[in-house]
Amino acid sequence: MKKKNPVDGINRREFLQTGAMLSASAMFLGFGATKLFGASNSNHAETSIENVTLNNGVQMPILGFGTLYLTGSEGEKCVADAISLGYRLIDTATIYDNEESVGAGIKRSGVNREELFVTSKVWVDDSGFENTKKAFETSLNKLGLDYLDLYLIHRPRGDVQGTWEAMEELYTENKIRAIGVSNFEPNQLRELMANNQVRPTVNQIEAHAFFQQPEAREFLKQNDVQMEAWSPLAQGRNGHFTNQTLAEIGQKYNKNNAQVSLRWNYQRGIVTIPRTSQKEHMMENLNIFDFELDASDMETISKLDLNTTQFPEWE
Ligand SMILES: NC(=O)c1ccc[n+]([C@@H]2O[C@H](COP(=O)([O-])OP(=O)(O)OC[C@H]3O[C@@H](n4cnc5c(N)ncnc54)[C@H](OP(=O)(O)O)[C@@H]3O)[C@@H](O)[C@H]2O)c1
Repeated sequence: MKKKNPVDGINRREFLQTGAMLSASAMFLGFGATKLFGASNSNHAETSIENVTLNNGVQMPILGFGTLYLTGSEGEKCVADAISLGYRLIDTATIYDNEESVGAGIKRSGVNREELFVTSKVWVDDSGFENTKKAFETSLNKLGLDYLDLYLIHRPRGDVQGTWEAMEELYTENKIRAIGVSNFEPNQLRELMANNQVRPTVNQIEAHAFFQQPEAREFLKQNDVQMEAWSPLAQGRNGHFTNQTLAEIGQKYNKNNAQVSLRWNYQRGIVTIPRTSQKEHMMENLNIFDFELDASDMETISKLDLNTTQFPEWE
């Protein structure tokens, strides 16, 4: 039996306004649990994750939790732990084969659904109008949710136009609060925008100190599409966690390389979704809001760009 959509019966504007009000309450009244607990090396016991406003008015946390490779009971536990520490944005995808675990972690956390921002992605094998509709329902069922906050085309492959039309329809039906893309080059995004009504809200792309994508960033800024960085820690590749330049900057603020990288993206308005299986690292990655990189730090990090992907096997 088809699940009842909790947003049935209210129109899109009301739905978006409700979301915006909840986010605003969270920011100013400490509503729900955007508070972060257990920061490991901070004098500040509590802080909050800010939201960015997407081009359709929906608010999205600027820092979230990635779940690639976090499957089974480990995935469930990590998601529950992350939410208990204050993460509200959870990033999954059909291809991660962990939507059930993510859903179970969400349930186990006990946090109200409306306080969370859940992203999933349609995989290339499910491209096209009908397939995407089915894939979306499967994702919802696996997650045990009635709507998604963000649904992305995972890669620009297959029948992208058909996929987008299905997503537009699901969006219009209030089953998704925002739709977007991932791994789209500027020319692919330009084409999608030229042929369709609904503008993508987000492009989730590889971005970290060693692959900074300045042209893509500029293009997204100009077109009011939020940039979201996947693998913001480069999965530790190219010696990220021992990089001397990041370490020297971090020493000034008593922060480690992961925190410097995440802070650098935060200061540039880029959403990041670091993944970790360790509670200690979850806390470290949240603990980036009590220091500020100065202009020369930012400039120094910009010079670490190698201008090439660290994941050639995914090309
Ligand atoms: N759209 C796409 O095509 C796409 C592609 C890739 C990823 N993503 C999304 O982006 C998310 C993040 O990317 P990712 O998972 O590839 O890699 P990542 O977040 O860049 O790095 C994860 C690695 O960093 C380690 N780590 C995390 N925090 C740390 C800390 N504070 N200190 C030391 N090590 C730390 C983790 O190990 P421990 O577990 O030991 O902490 C793990 O090995 C994914 O989980 C997924 O949701 C999307």
